[in-house]
Amino acid sequence: MNIIYKISPTVSDDHLNILYASAWPNHSNQTFEEELSHALFYVCAYNNSQLIGFVKVIGDGTIHGFILEPTVHPDFQRKGIGSELLAHVENHSRELGLQYLHVDFESNLLGFYRSNGYEHTEAGLLNLHASE
Ligand SMILES: CC(C)(COP(=O)(O)OP(=O)(O)OC[C@H]1O[C@@H](n2cnc3c(N)ncnc32)[C@H](O)[C@@H]1OP(=O)(O)O)[C@@H](O)C(=O)NCCC(=O)NCCS
Repeated sequence: MNIIYKISPTVSDDHLNILYASAWPNHSNQTFEEELSHALFYVCAYNNSQLIGFVKVIGDGTIHGFILEPTVHPDFQRKGIGSELLAHVENHSRELGLQYLHVDFESNLLGFYRSNGYEHTEAGLLNLHASE
């Protein structure tokens, strides 16, 4: 398996929707252009031409980067690709001069983030659409 990792390549909605639909149970097709335009950067993982991994980082561009939606296609999970995506995030964030990377996650993924060097912190979340 020869997985190629690319920082912020041009990526189609079709490729992202296929990957998200495979890994996120409630995903419905969407356009990604606006959210990608707000990212500091994102990382794509390819097996040949198939998009099999993705993660994006948003932030203030100077100190803080927030990791959103690390995603690995189920056929390729538990092979180290999620960890490699985070390693690329870490390396590129250092190149950009960021100091902190943040991520929030459900408790079953504590081991994944700990094994990639992340401390467990408390965080806050407000759903602005909760009453809709
Ligand atoms: C979370 C995710 C990105 C991990 O990607 P991955 O390529 O499978 O991760 P890795 O192979 O690098 O895992 C490294 C280690 O983290 C831990 N880990 C990974 N996924 C785990 C899971 N679902 N549950 C518990 N531990 C997990 C394991 O210790 C694993 O090592 P092991 O396989 O030797 O036991 C992937 O499972 C995924 O896309 N899930 C669906 C989307 C999602 O929930 N994303 C996270 C949002 S915060």
